[in-house]
Amino acid sequence: MPMPKTALVLIAAAVSGIAAADVSESDRPHRHAAAAHAQAEASDALASLRLEHDPFAQVYIVMSRSSHAHMPDLVRGASPKIDRQGNRLVLAEVRAHQLSRITERIHQREHRCGGYFAFSTRAEAEAFLRSAPTRPPQARKSPAIMVEYSIDSQAMVSPWLDQVQHANIHGTISHLQSYQNRYYASSYGRDAALWIQSTWMGLAAGRSDVTSELFACASCSTQPSVILTIRGNELSNEVVVLGGHLDSINASGGGSTGQRAPGADDDASGIATLTEVLRIAMASGWKPKRTVKFMGYAAEEVGLRGSNAIAQAYKRSNVNVVAALQMDMTNYKSGSGPDMRLVTDFSDPHMQRFLTDLFDVYLAPRGFTRGTDTCGYACSDHASWTAAGYPSGFFFEAGTASGNGFPSIHTSNDTLANMGNTAQNSAKFAQLGLAFLGEAAKTSTVEAPKRTPLR
Ligand code: BES
Ligand code: ZN
Repeated sequence: MPMPKTALVLIAAAVSGIAAADVSESDRPHRHAAAAHAQAEASDALASLRLEHDPFAQVYIVMSRSSHAHMPDLVRGASPKIDRQGNRLVLAEVRAHQLSRITERIHQREHRCGGYFAFSTRAEAEAFLRSAPTRPPQARKSPAIMVEYSIDSQAMVSPWLDQVQHANIHGTISHLQSYQNRYYASSYGRDAALWIQSTWMGLAAGRSDVTSELFACASCSTQPSVILTIRGNELSNEVVVLGGHLDSINASGGGSTGQRAPGADDDASGIATLTEVLRIAMASGWKPKRTVKFMGYAAEEVGLRGSNAIAQAYKRSNVNVVAALQMDMTNYKSGSGPDMRLVTDFSDPHMQRFLTDLFDVYLAPRGFTRGTDTCGYACSDHASWTAAGYPSGFFFEAGTASGNGFPSIHTSNDTLANMGNTAQNSAKFAQLGLAFLGEAAKTSTVEAPKRTPLR
């Protein structure tokens, strides 16, 4: 969640003459989230399973010294640490079942989410501190294989945009919020993933160039990520990803398998937006030049686990992802502010430019407005792609956490009823998704979509 606190810290630093970066960094270990996720994934699968299933398992956490000051009763054996960026951190021990209380405490005292990293061994935590990147992930070099992003497919994309129906998006959100929760470790969370797979495959209507898979991950419990692939006709080894997370969480219980977590905005809205994009692309008979992958990520709410597992696996096998768009929270609109905000950290500068251009060409003429924001940490799955060295970008809904953001996030109140019982706000994200799809994956000249001739 974007943190207003960060801005205040930066101002204070400038006034007192202390290097702003040092102060802000020391206040948020989040900077290293991407590296932490990579490390967590690399850790022994057995260790992560132990961490999930044994509530009394010893867990080692790394957090800022200011966060640590709020929880002397929860953590033991704290030792002060300074990472390679000079951040003042604490390494401490807790029992696995206390992690939820720590998250809750950070929420209460610091009015933000996340904010610590958990490891199943002290050695992993120490390694994380030693290996923290010396530059923030968004400053990493873009991957070697880049494509030139261009916007030249208006003839195909513009008619798509008119076909977006918010009632369809509403229908999908409505179904997804009807599960008790979509928590990664609950049976509902698995059921929801399977429903998404069959819904997406239903839209593909038996096309031989469309396939789907369930992507399991060692720390994702029984919840798989869902991947639908449309094979590219000309540049099939260049991959365009459109994704959102399919899980939900009720943070008041720190996440549990039985609690009500409808997650209508976070992130049924993203999955429903992607579903409408897929429906329209499939209905038009479109064949892409590049391979397209629609992804519903598992276990985002417990540390971007599903997306990180996929991005790391792709990196290991040299899959060439040329662009990844994240859809997370698309349906809330506060009274004021722009329709969409581009998240400018943990994402690729070329993608930011491309997304901004897409907005200006396709959405601005429809009267929509855009702004920018930062999360300050790896707040959603776009960061998993960035951490693996792939270009990714993320536009999210109007609100920010500074007062006019979606107030019901991670609660039993994250429902359509609390978003005006409409999915109209998600409709513009579906239009952005269609513009991204058409322009990043391009129409194939091998097999062009059939068009009804004009009379
Ligand atoms: N959808 C949120 C992130 C978000 C919130 C993005 C508000 C933009 C605006 C996401 O599902 C989430 O809750 N992320 C976690 C971090 C994650 C690594 C567990 C968070 O922000 O606490
Ligand atoms: Zn969330």
